This record gives sequence, C-alpha cells and structure tokens, in this order.
Amino acid sequence: MLFWLFIILVSLFGFVLLFGAPYLPTTKRQVRASFELLELKEGQTFLELGSGDGRLLLAGAKQGLRCVGYELNPLLVIVSIIVTWRYRKQVTIHWGNFWNGDLAEADGIFVFLLDRYMEKLDKKVQSECAQGTKLVSFGFKIPHRKVARTEHGVRLYIY
Ligand SMILES: C[S@@+](CC[C@H](N)C(=O)[O-])C[C@H]1O[C@@H](n2cnc3c(N)ncnc32)[C@H](O)[C@@H]1O
Repeated sequence: MLFWLFIILVSLFGFVLLFGAPYLPTTKRQVRASFELLELKEGQTFLELGSGDGRLLLAGAKQGLRCVGYELNPLLVIVSIIVTWRYRKQVTIHWGNFWNGDLAEADGIFVFLLDRYMEKLDKKVQSECAQGTKLVSFGFKIPHRKVARTEHGVRLYIY
C-alpha cells in the first residue's frame, strides 16, 4: 500500500518535468518582493504559471487582485483551492498546462521555472500580452531581455 502511494506521489510530482519546472515553493521574502516589483492595483489580474500550493495566489488575493493560476499537479491544485478558498470569488485555478493557456488577460505574471523554458516563455508573453505587461521571474533570467529591477533574486521585466 505504502509502495503504491509512493509511486503515485513520485509520478504526480515527476511527470511535470516533461512540461516545466518541478515543485519547489517560493519563500515569503521572494513572494513579498514579487508583489513589490509588480506594483499591481486592486482589481488588476495577476497570473501565475505553475501556481504550486497557491501561496502567491493567496498573497495576491489578499491585496485585492484577481488571481489566475495554472498548475499541472492535481494534488497541488487541490491544496491551492483549499488555501485560497476564502478568496474563491477572486481566484481561478486551472488544472492544466500553462503553455496552452492564454496570457492576454494578465497585468502581471509570476514564474519560477527553469533556464531552459525562459526563451519559449518570452516568445509566448511577447505574442499574447499587451504592451506594458509586467513579468517577475524568481531565479531565472530571460535571455537577451532587459531587467527593469531586481529584488531578492526576483527579476522584473516590462513588455
Ligand atoms: C518551481 S515550482 C513553483 C511553484 C509556485 N509558483 C511557487 O513559486 O511557490 C513550479 C510549479 O510549476 C508547475 N508546473 C511546471 N510546469 C507546468 C506547466 N507546463 N503547466 C502548469 N504547471 C506547471 C509544477 O507542478 C510546480 O508546482
């Protein structure tokens, strides 16, 4: 029984490697830095690509933002729905692959991915988002794109 539980958990957390970064949560300091850099106003839309356990969606909802997350791992989707339940009118969590999602509605985007996805992400944001859309990336740089500001390892890009 424990063996099968282990296999299921490894599969759920492991299969995302085919599409993006594995689960590793952002710390409080970087969550705070991300929202400080984004400077979003109440009612604006915050989009998180790979929303993990929902901690950024919760932080955004507490600031009055409309929050949208994409997450592949169904266990993390359930956890994040529970975590953000109090703000359910403001928060939408899609169980799915963000590469298939539409980013056009975003005023601000958060990502914590891996180097190898940053160029593909840059193209997607550039083709789908309005001019002035802000993107913060924890840990990983977008190649050849100018960084507007950096705080605690979080980089801000303005498209
Ligand atoms: C490094 S973790 C970051 C989690 C969360 N954003 C945070 O900062 O605390 C990356 C997350 O993205 C999810 N993920 C990876 N590729 C994805 C994809 N293509 N579509 C949706 N979610 C994805 C993983 O399951 C994981 O939860």
